[in-house]
Amino acid sequence: MRVVRLSSEIDFDGWRLAARRLRAEGAAPETVAWTTERDLFSPPPCGEGSGGGGVGAEMADSEPAPPPQPLPARGRDFTVPPAFVELARSVVLHRSGERFALLYRLLWRLEREPRLIDNPADPDVARARDMQKAVARAIHKMHAFVRFRLVETEPETYAAWFEPAHRVTEAAAPFFARRFTNMTWTILTPDACVAWDGASLRVSDGADPADAPSEDAQEELWRTYYASIFNPARLNERMMRQEMPKRYWRNLPEARLIPQLVETAQARAAAMVAAAPSPPPDRVLKAALRHARDGSYNGDLPTSLDEVAAAVQLCRRCDLWRNCTQAVPGQGAAHAPLMFVGEQPGDQEDLAGLPFVGPAGQVFDAALQEAGAPRDRAFVTNAVKHFKHEPRGKRRIHKTPDRGEVQACRWWLDAERRLVRPQVIVALGATAALAVTGKATAVGDNRGRPLQLPNQGNGQAQLIVTYHPSFLLRLPDADARERARAEFVDDLRLAGELARLID
Ligand code: URA
Repeated sequence: MRVVRLSSEIDFDGWRLAARRLRAEGAAPETVAWTTERDLFSPPPCGEGSGGGGVGAEMADSEPAPPPQPLPARGRDFTVPPAFVELARSVVLHRSGERFALLYRLLWRLEREPRLIDNPADPDVARARDMQKAVARAIHKMHAFVRFRLVETEPETYAAWFEPAHRVTEAAAPFFARRFTNMTWTILTPDACVAWDGASLRVSDGADPADAPSEDAQEELWRTYYASIFNPARLNERMMRQEMPKRYWRNLPEARLIPQLVETAQARAAAMVAAAPSPPPDRVLKAALRHARDGSYNGDLPTSLDEVAAAVQLCRRCDLWRNCTQAVPGQGAAHAPLMFVGEQPGDQEDLAGLPFVGPAGQVFDAALQEAGAPRDRAFVTNAVKHFKHEPRGKRRIHKTPDRGEVQACRWWLDAERRLVRPQVIVALGATAALAVTGKATAVGDNRGRPLQLPNQGNGQAQLIVTYHPSFLLRLPDADARERARAEFVDDLRLAGELARLID
């Protein structure tokens, strides 16, 4: 029996080197044992910790380790398909003790069965493919469930503890380097630790659970955000547990909310339905029918906000209605001096039939409160009344409406403006600014000061252009986010003052 000692649990290069040599020497798989364990007296072959992964295979036992020598001709001629190398690289990361032997058996068989790995029914191939899938899943879960905690403020340094299902720490690390490039962080796992200093990744030995960082102040904020994006009407508990297995909950600040959110989901979904607008009277519906449809109608205009709300449900001025639950008309005080215009309803607004009730709405409400501007004395609407999205799995991903859709929907926004006649309009983001002014209006160049809108039969009003609340949610840099949020609050305050809702 030949015993091959590899330098670490994920020593792919060491395995490859040893496997090529063994195969060239004609060592049948059943005559080779693979291990990463060292006897007490031998030093580690590559001098690195378990996370190292350097080339350091040793062959021992019944035969002494052969000195390095050129491969025999048979070994040089034999090449494996790139798909096998890819498979082997990920199988090596699996925790199964049989992984190196399985890979060597596959390599051995490949010479006589060059198409072997294309045969999913072969038990060795099937096992390796399962392991590859499990490793890919473990990487995916690590990307999704690592939560950094602030461990030092000077300089700002973050750390996360994570226990991956397989030895994927190094494989998962480049994702975090790309995603959190400007942060200094370390991810500690029992297998290896990876640290990013803003320029390069460093790998060291695994850590002990006792080294796991404890809760930081940001976690409360994260829980608030998670609770606000949790949509009770779309709860699928089985899927949720499948996607976020319990073994990861310990390190997820939001996991502590899950039982309570699940328990109250039904009641909250019912409340959302109850809060949706009630059906309008027949008289209004009839008028609505005349107004909606395809835009060919040129006669009298809607005479009430109820009529707008009912008519917009029948709108066919563009195609967005096809994939929506309903249109979302504006909501608020009938003659509000202040009107907010967003971009379009999101996933939760589409279900509830109300504007700004989802995550962007939470940011908006918090900023309004800070500015001292009361939402219930304003009118809140959107440039486009239907939720434009594309499906991704079971989720509906927001898509920005195009110019044509904004133009088609301006008819409704104009109807709302004519009826509300606000003195001040706040355009939240560039799409809203386009809808209100009819031309491209960059937020950066125009925010922070009132602009005069021409009176085109829909009243005399001043315009404040500012950020869209979702823009604040997306800003990755904490300082930039805080700056933009403060400017957003200033803009809302200015609008409230101009509309005389704030002294
Ligand atoms: N984003 C918007 O622009 N409007 C909404 O109503 C919700 C999210």
